[in-house]
Formats: sequence, C-alpha cells, structure tokens
Amino acid sequence: MKLLDIYTRWNVEPVKALGCKIYDKDGVEYLDFYGGHGVISIGHSHPEYVKRFKQQIDKIGFYSNSVFISLQDVYAKKLGDISGYPDYSLFMVNSGAEANENALKLAAFHNKRKKVVAFRKSFHGRTAAAIKITDNSHYWSSINESPEVIFLSLKNSVDIKKVLEKKDVSSVIVEGIQGIGGVIVPNSNFFKNLRTVCDQTDTILILDEIQSGFGRSGRFFAHQYSGIRPDLITIAKGMGNGFPVSGVLISPKFTVSSGQLGTTFGGNYLACVASITVLDIIEKENLIKNACNVGNYLINELKKMPKVKEVRGIGLMIGVELKELIKPLREKLLFEQKVFTGFTGKYVFRFLPPLCLDKQIADDFLNRFHEILIH
Ligand SMILES: Cc1ncc(COP(=O)(O)O)c(C=O)c1O
Repeated sequence: MKLLDIYTRWNVEPVKALGCKIYDKDGVEYLDFYGGHGVISIGHSHPEYVKRFKQQIDKIGFYSNSVFISLQDVYAKKLGDISGYPDYSLFMVNSGAEANENALKLAAFHNKRKKVVAFRKSFHGRTAAAIKITDNSHYWSSINESPEVIFLSLKNSVDIKKVLEKKDVSSVIVEGIQGIGGVIVPNSNFFKNLRTVCDQTDTILILDEIQSGFGRSGRFFAHQYSGIRPDLITIAKGMGNGFPVSGVLISPKFTVSSGQLGTTFGGNYLACVASITVLDIIEKENLIKNACNVGNYLINELKKMPKVKEVRGIGLMIGVELKELIKPLREKLLFEQKVFTGFTGKYVFRFLPPLCLDKQIADDFLNRFHEILIH
C-alpha cells in the first residue's frame, strides 16, 4: 500500500518544534506563521503540555463514553468560566467538521426544520452536512448537492431577513471570522442583526469559532466583539494545540435525549488533558491579551509594507492581500526566509501564528516578509 497522494505538500519535513519555531530533519529552523493551519495555540511542545500528556498516558489513555471520565466535567467547567458561557453545556467530539455536523443536528432536533442558511465563501468542513454549507462546489460530490442550503451575502441583511421570515430555516451558521474565505471580519452590526432576526423567527444561530476561537482574535471568541450570544458555538483547532479534539457549546434552551448524539473517541482522557492544559496556559500566560497586542502591532506594521493592498483580521488571525500573485513570494518566504505561512485564494497570505508569539519574533518575521516584498 502507498499513501493516497491527495495533498500539495512542501518539500520540508518538520521533526521538532518549540513555541513559534519549527526544525526540519536537517536542523534548519523556521518561524511558524501558519500554526499548522491555525491549530497551535499555546505554542509547539509547550513543556507543561508535554509533561501532563506523559503523566496521563502513563495512567490511562483511552476509554469510551460508557464510563465516567471526570476530566470531561473539569474541562466543561473551566471552558464555561473562561469563555464566558458558564450556563452552556459541552459535547466533545474529534474534528471541526464533526462539531459542525452535530451543531446542525442539534438545531434540527430542536425545531424540526430542514433548511440551513450559510454565507458565501464559507468553509465549515468536508463531511456530508458540513460540506453542504461550504460555499465551494469543488468540494461537493453528487450526493452532497442539495437545494436545502441557502447561501447569502455577509453584507446583505435585507436578504437574511427575507429568507428567515419564511420560518422554515432550522439554523444559520457563520464563522466568527471567515478564514478560508479571505480573512473577512463580519462587523458587529451584522452579528447583532443576525441575532435579532434569528430570535424573531425561531432560527438557531450557530457560530463556527473553529478557526477564530480560543483567543486567536484577541477575545476568547471573535463574535464576542459584538456582544451577541449564539445558541450553539463550534470549537476545534486551538482547543487541543494539535491533539484532535473539538466540541459544541450548547445553550440551556436545548434538551437533548440520550442517543441523539454520540461518539467513540470524543472526550477521551488525552483529549481532556490536552484541552485542560491549553486553557490553563492561555490563562497563566495571558495569551489572549498577547494575541491582541502582538496582533495589533503586526497589523499596523504590515499595512506599511510595499505591494500590500489590504490587511484584514483581528488579533493573530491576519490576512494580507497583495496586488500580485502570492505563490512565488510564499515559496521564497519558506525556502529563502524560512517562514511557514498560510494563504487563501491567489492574492492573500494568511498568518495564524501561535498565540505565544512575542514582539521579538514578530519583528524578525516582519523583516523577513519585507525582504521578499522588495526583491
Ligand atoms: C471555520 C472552519 N470550520 C470548520 C473547519 C473544519 O475543521 P476540520 O478540518 O477539523 O474538520 C475548518 C478547517 O479549516 C475551519 O476553518
């Protein structure tokens, strides 16, 4: 057997990492401004994370949800307190798409409606329901096509009202900040209007904070800049700092009956230890404030760079749109300047560094980025 050849991959093999730095098999050091697709929150191989992981695996690594795993309760309590949702309940699963699938299902169990509203340029995952609400037909197979999803513009609140007033939409799902769609930050009024219309029409509001959550935006969740409270919030990526874990935060208005949701791996001991440690480190090292401060600094400095058309984002979720194609520049950044970066589309760099990024490494990055822009 050979591995399915499905990814476009860089010819680099990281074998070690620490904080915001990655080392390849020849010992070459790189700056990580991609965070393994926005996953690394507290930094690579944080010593406390490594220590607690080792301690846990020495005791027990896995059992299913047929027994009590009190670490799950510890985590739910901690997450509720830190995120500002102490009255919500938590359902733990394994990946972002799975979290969104469960959120859509919870909404449909609740109001028995079938339709979903999503937004243009959205990305919510690649599983059956999640892919239906992802606005990119390239990812759809024939069984995924369905008239039950309505894609609307983030900019047109009149259309949103018109569609929801028919009262046949089960849920509206929206990213806290659209990541793959180009790092687009919906404004506070958009979220407030959406909340109001969902309330008026008994439509469930789902906030996908899979990429924008866990402090990346400079708040625990990006939607918290607007002051709204969604009915369901989906989380993944930064939650486990690389351990595959995700979840749905569920408002008290839902009643779920036994068997409606379930998972084999979700909420296992290692997932809980990873997730608890991430929250402890976020708190102890003030990483949300750090993401806000260093993010603002980076955004301001990036705006001064040559060839830059627009800088979008908040905190450490930053999109830099150039006036030219970024592919050759991104390669130069990686192979000459030794910096990992992300992208969206052909013109936008996407920077998702670990939240522990300090000003010194930020400056180092800015110099390297400037270098490839002027040559
Ligand atoms: C906003 C958003 N939602 C959902 C997903 C899907 O997550 P996963 O790849 O863990 O299924 C992603 C992944 O990039 C994402 O950015």
